[in-house]
Parts: sequence; structure tokens; C-alpha cells
Amino acid sequence: MNILVIGGAGYIGSHVTREFLDNGHNCTVYDNLSSGLRQNLYKEALFIHGDILDFPCLLDVMTNTSFDALIHLAAFKAAGESMLNPGKYARNNIMGTINILNAACQGGIKNIVFSSSAAVYGEPQYLPIDEKHPTVPENFYGFTKLDIERLLEWYDKLKNIRFAALRYFNAAGYDIDSRIKGLEQNPANLIPIIMETAIGIRKEMQVFGNDYDTTDGTCIRDYIHVNDLAKGHVSALDYIIKNDKSITINLGSEQGFSVTQVLETARKITGKPIPAKTVERRSGDPAKLTASCSLASELLGWKARYSDMETLIKTSWEAYKIAINS
Ligand code: WQD
Repeated sequence: MNILVIGGAGYIGSHVTREFLDNGHNCTVYDNLSSGLRQNLYKEALFIHGDILDFPCLLDVMTNTSFDALIHLAAFKAAGESMLNPGKYARNNIMGTINILNAACQGGIKNIVFSSSAAVYGEPQYLPIDEKHPTVPENFYGFTKLDIERLLEWYDKLKNIRFAALRYFNAAGYDIDSRIKGLEQNPANLIPIIMETAIGIRKEMQVFGNDYDTTDGTCIRDYIHVNDLAKGHVSALDYIIKNDKSITINLGSEQGFSVTQVLETARKITGKPIPAKTVERRSGDPAKLTASCSLASELLGWKARYSDMETLIKTSWEAYKIAINS
């Protein structure tokens, strides 16, 4: 199939593009390189340097090539920043998606896989979180993802578009075969921050609170390996095409690891001390988040394979060592 990967040069997008290429598809990457990297582009995939706010450019791309599907991963994703600068998130994430949807309709693209987020759920009311859990986002970023899911539902009804909204839990790790060379810049997430501390970019990392109601007092999250996420995109696209039906599903590992457990695993695997200081809680952090992925397993036959903590840390550490030594 001909696949347009919007945001395909980014951290998750580059893994997703790799997976579609490996499955024999033709990929065109559309990216403005605001956080995506040229290093993450593949010679087998066409690259278009474009912005999702540039409707004429999107329309040109989508009407000049006949795409069977598009994968939409282009978004700002820092939850904290979205609370300080909601306009930036509304414009890029929501307006950008409206442009994509309208261009897709005009270009006749019927299938869309969208990067949604567990951030749509907000504070958990029960665990593990399944797709029926109420959606009450705690931050504006999560709101933008939920709003886009609702737009997709309407475009499904009114314009006959089929979509898969994939609600990622905590994406982590790097390509299992070390094929992706570009590291995420200015990371705000736990594992890359631990890696930057291990490699010496940071002197120490901060643990945001150790007085939560969890076994060791630090927050528990469901970390999902990017290669697992990438496979989920391929399976989800197959599903919506074969069944002519849209889906909204969680992608997680169904396992919870505390910040301390992640840190200890990283110390063991890297052999580095990774200095850490416990500081105040970060606002808006639920104590525990874990996914139920029964729906992904039932509908897609998908299950996380690389999301044990050792593999998450090992593949991250490999990527950091390769990047630093090159
Ligand atoms: C993980 C845990 C922190 C950094 C985010 C987004 C969410 C979704 C997934 C995209 C928490 C702790 C972190 C640090 C720490 N993204 N931590 N020190 O907040 O669970 O989820 O990614 O859709 O929307 O909010 O991920 O990696 O920031 O934090 O102690 O320097 O690590 O408190 O418990 P989070 P995270």
C-alpha cells in the first residue's frame, strides 16, 4: 500500500515508518522537522518537508499521489507546556488535524491511523484502564487528543473515513535492532532523562515525589516499547481496512513499573551510578496508571513483546551510546 506518514521523522514516527517499510509498504514521510530529525529519514521513503498548518501543501501532496492510508503522528506532546501555552497546542494539534482531515477527504484517503494518548483518560477512576474508562483529560494536551478523536468520529459518519485511534501509554525504548539513530531532543520523559543522566548530559535526575500510595512511594506507569507501538499501527490499519470499521484502542504493556524500579534497572544495565534526588511531587501526576489491552489483543491479535523493563532500558542505552559515540 501507499502510506503517508505525517510526523514520520519523529521519535515514534520513525519507528512506525520503519515497520511499514519492513512490511513491504511504500511510505512518504511528511514532517516539518520541528522535532523530527533528518537522521530519522530512510532512503526507501520519500520525504516532504511540510507543515500540517500549510493546507495547500497538504492538499497538493494528498491529491498528487494516491495514498491508501495516512498515519498521523504530528503533534506537540508536552503535557506541562500545553497548560502554559494552550494556543500553541490548539493551533498545531487541532487545527493541523482539521487540515489533514479536509485534505484527506479531497484526496480520497479513506483510512487514518491516529496517535492518541492515555492522557485522554485523566485521573484514573479504576485500574487497569480500559477503553470504556471515562475521558476527562487533566491537561490541555490530553484535551487536544480527545477533541481529535471526536473529529475523527464525525468524519467517519459524514465523510466515510475509517480511523484507528491508538491511545498510547508511556512510549519508551529505541529500535530493537538499533536502526534508528536520531535521539529525541530535549526529552521530558522519565527514561530518556535517566539515559541523559547515565551518559553524563545531566549531572543528576529528579524523582518527583516518593510519598505516593504505591509499594515504594514513587509513581507507577505502563511503559510500552516503540517497536510494539509500531507493530500496533500496522495491525490497526489492517483491521480497519479489512473490517471497514473504525476503532479506538489502548496500546500499553499491562505492566506497571515505579520510578524507583525504572531507575534501579537502568543502574544495573548501564553500570552507571545515575545520581537521583527526590523532590516535590509534580502536579497532575496520578500515583498509578496501567492499561488494559484486551481490546487490542482481541481485535488485532496484538500484544506487547518488547516492553519488559530490561528491553526498554537496554534498547534506550544502546541508542544513547551509539549517538554519543558517532
Ligand atoms: C513518568 C513518571 C513522573 C521525569 C507522559 C504524558 C502523557 C503521555 C505519556 C503522550 C512519572 C516521573 C518523570 C523526571 C520523574 N504522553 N518522572 N522524574 O507524565 O506518565 O506521561 O507521557 O501521550 O500524556 O504526560 O510520563 O515520562 O513524564 O513520567 O520522577 O524527571 O516518571 O513523575 O511518575 P507521564 P513521564
